[in-house]
Amino acid sequence: MIQKNRGLSAALICVVLALLPQGSQALLELSASGPDVASVLVGGNVTLGVSYSRASNAAIIWRRGLDPVATWTINTSAPPDIHPGLASVLGVSANGSLQFVGVTLDYSGGYSVEMTKSGQGTATLNFTLTVYGQTLRLDY
Ligand SMILES: *[C@@H]1O[C@H](CO)[C@@H](O)[C@H](O)[C@H]1NC(C)=O
Ligand SMILES: *[C@@H]1O[C@H](CO)[C@@H](O)[C@H](O)[C@H]1NC(C)=O
Ligand SMILES: *[C@@H]1O[C@H](CO)[C@@H](O)[C@H](O)[C@H]1NC(C)=O
Ligand SMILES: *[C@@H]1O[C@H](CO)[C@@H](O)[C@H](O)[C@H]1NC(C)=O
Repeated sequence: MIQKNRGLSAALICVVLALLPQGSQALLELSASGPDVASVLVGGNVTLGVSYSRASNAAIIWRRGLDPVATWTINTSAPPDIHPGLASVLGVSANGSLQFVGVTLDYSGGYSVEMTKSGQGTATLNFTLTVYGQTLRLDY
């Protein structure tokens, strides 16, 4: 019985220690997993890829220009919230990357991603996407 209680106390101490504040936590790190300048043929698919560390369930916001177009909390079961007018093309993959399926020319532009984790700060990255037409225009 005493042995048992000792074991229990030891376990409780471990739990309490694990719950103690660890001081300042490591800041989250965010980087592009591929090129930050992408080009794609109209109608094609492309992914603006991110990789990150030290953040298992950070909140992520993808913007086109200044407008938020997709938001998600990584690893939640709720689906990403996508701009309704762009949802036929845009998606967020499980790792937070922005996916385009069947892009049209008007998806060209500057995109940015912002990742935030309470206590670990905010990180942002910029991308440029160019969608080019199927035919080469020769203007004489
Ligand atoms: C783009 O992705 C969609 C859905 O995954 C697929 O059906 C289609 O074949 C892909 N298109 C190209 C050009 O790879
Ligand atoms: C993220 O997921 C997409 C699609 O599932 C995949 O193409 C890409 O390689 C992944 N990126 C990383 C950094 O794992
Ligand atoms: C969160 O998602 C990433 C990418 O899908 C996965 O590797 C990781 O195991 C997940 N973590 C948790 C705690 O579910
Ligand atoms: C991203 O672009 C914005 C607006 O053009 C700029 O203010 C910001 O410094 C850029 N951030 C990075 C990390 O390059």
